[in-house]
Amino acid sequence: MLLEVRDLHVEFRTRDGVANAVNGVTYSVDEGETLAVLGESGSGKSVTAQAVMGILDTPPGKITAGEILFRGQDLLKFKEEERRKVRGAQMAMIFQDALSSLNPVLSVGAQLGEMFTVHRGMSRKDAKAKAVELMDRVRIPGAASRVGDYPHQFSGGMRQRIMIAMALALEPALIIADEPTTALDVTVQAQVMDLLAELQRELDMGLILITHDLGVVADVADRIAVMYAGRIVESAQVHDIYKAPAHPYTKGLLESIPRLDQKGKELYAIKGLPPNLLHIPPGCAFNPRCPMAQDVCRTDVPPLYEVTGAGPDRRSACHFWRECLDG
Ligand SMILES: Nc1ncnc2c1ncn2[C@@H]1O[C@H](COP(=O)(O)OP(=O)(O)O)[C@@H](O)[C@H]1O
Ligand SMILES: [Mg+2]
Repeated sequence: MLLEVRDLHVEFRTRDGVANAVNGVTYSVDEGETLAVLGESGSGKSVTAQAVMGILDTPPGKITAGEILFRGQDLLKFKEEERRKVRGAQMAMIFQDALSSLNPVLSVGAQLGEMFTVHRGMSRKDAKAKAVELMDRVRIPGAASRVGDYPHQFSGGMRQRIMIAMALALEPALIIADEPTTALDVTVQAQVMDLLAELQRELDMGLILITHDLGVVADVADRIAVMYAGRIVESAQVHDIYKAPAHPYTKGLLESIPRLDQKGKELYAIKGLPPNLLHIPPGCAFNPRCPMAQDVCRTDVPPLYEVTGAGPDRRSACHFWRECLDG
């Protein structure tokens, strides 16, 4: 397995108390596989990704338990020096906001080239050629003539392509894309997502795609992990989840997708708000919003049950996953 996150816990010490942002996340992604991580804002998707990349703000953040196995080695046991080598060369991250991730006072060619001069000891001239090659690869029109341009001279979509090029530069085995198209216009979103999916296949990379858009997931992901209040509440292969969700939260998310064939029909939105991470409700964290909740849901935290008979390698943290599957 390329990456295995096991029972990861992350907390933030704030003035108001301890925020339990990640409460036992377990997920994995293999070479050539795309895992979509889904969930409302504040569910711990980014914090988990930052922990994997080794870029978590510590303090205030703190990893209190768990393992992050990359090709079988626990990254949490690595020294910062070794960690830095893994980051960039073997795993890279694409962020939502390219403008604040790119350096505004360096040309994009210089920033792309730096990957090769710093990590590969290339000459400036060779690095520049590599930069143009990468810009071509992410289909920036007229790459050779734009290599000296600065980030602000590119459109949002083109900047996001440059971010993808940066991430791909050293041909990492794993890419984490954290809502990579959220800041873009809808038409551009699809183009950038298609490009990312195509490069992922071509380079046979593992891809963790963090998104709250179930619409894009169906096209590009192999597996889905759904997060709620810092836990995985359901994981399965994409088509199995779409066929029949095994967790009421996933069901709510699925029913919230606007459908062209049901125009005018009222959108099902999950009622209520995500929990305050300083005070996660006892039992199942989703119980106050769950249409299926019973007494046991208010007292007992559901384990991540193995779901059987509805597709391989499938899990749900719902006491009533069978009932959920059936209806
Ligand atoms: N730098 C920080 N300081 C304090 N709390 C944080 C910080 N970053 C994240 N958190 C907490 O972790 C929770 C989960 O954040 P995040 O992983 O970014 O959610 P999302 O699923 O939207 O990516 C936040 O709601 C917040 O309570
Ligand atoms: Mg996030």
